[in-house]
Amino acid sequence: MERAHQQQYLDGLQFVRWVRREHGGHHIPPDSNSELSSTESALRKIATEVEHCRACSLHRTRRHTVFGAGSASAECLFVGEAPGAEEDRRGLPFVGRAGQLLNAMIFALGLERDQTYIANVLKCRPPDNRDPLGEEVRKCETYLHRQIELLEPRLIIALGRFAAQSLLKSSLPIGKLRGQCHSYEPFGIPLVATYHPAYLLRSPLEKRKVWSDLRLAKTVLS
Ligand code: URA
Repeated sequence: MERAHQQQYLDGLQFVRWVRREHGGHHIPPDSNSELSSTESALRKIATEVEHCRACSLHRTRRHTVFGAGSASAECLFVGEAPGAEEDRRGLPFVGRAGQLLNAMIFALGLERDQTYIANVLKCRPPDNRDPLGEEVRKCETYLHRQIELLEPRLIIALGRFAAQSLLKSSLPIGKLRGQCHSYEPFGIPLVATYHPAYLLRSPLEKRKVWSDLRLAKTVLS
């Protein structure tokens, strides 16, 4: 989305325009292994493991695994649920309709998408976008935990119930988990949970609560 369009969109949502902070984030260069930081190369090793993963039946129906994308030095990590159809097709997280809303959320934090890191609890698409099964979450979430250990973000934003419950080891509904700052253990990383962008597409009235969660996240980051 172009910046002018983003602002129009955010104004429509009544998102506050925050000033973007300076940040030393960088892209992972695709073809120059010699320039990879140790974090980047460790992430790539896990991504290769994920590409070969057969731990649950989702490997039978996936087109691509979706490991995650963004800056290895990101201060803010977004965690979603699982790839959808477009993500499965392209092998990248949040590139469909929900991704456009996530872009607006990132912008509201004063960040660019490539200054953040975006990952999911599940690395493969559940058929027909069904909810992840408990067994799939248990088998796949260890990849996410290893990503977090390497990335060491200053803040995690959990998008939706599955991400929040998996990261917080909680069975509380998202409505109870949002609106406060938790801690991701065992690393003590601040974690703010909020509604999933795909839910906001269906329930636009909840955008106000997300805006409030993003203000909380902004406070934690600053
Ligand atoms: N929804 C998610 O939770 N993750 C994606 O990558 C896309 C849609």
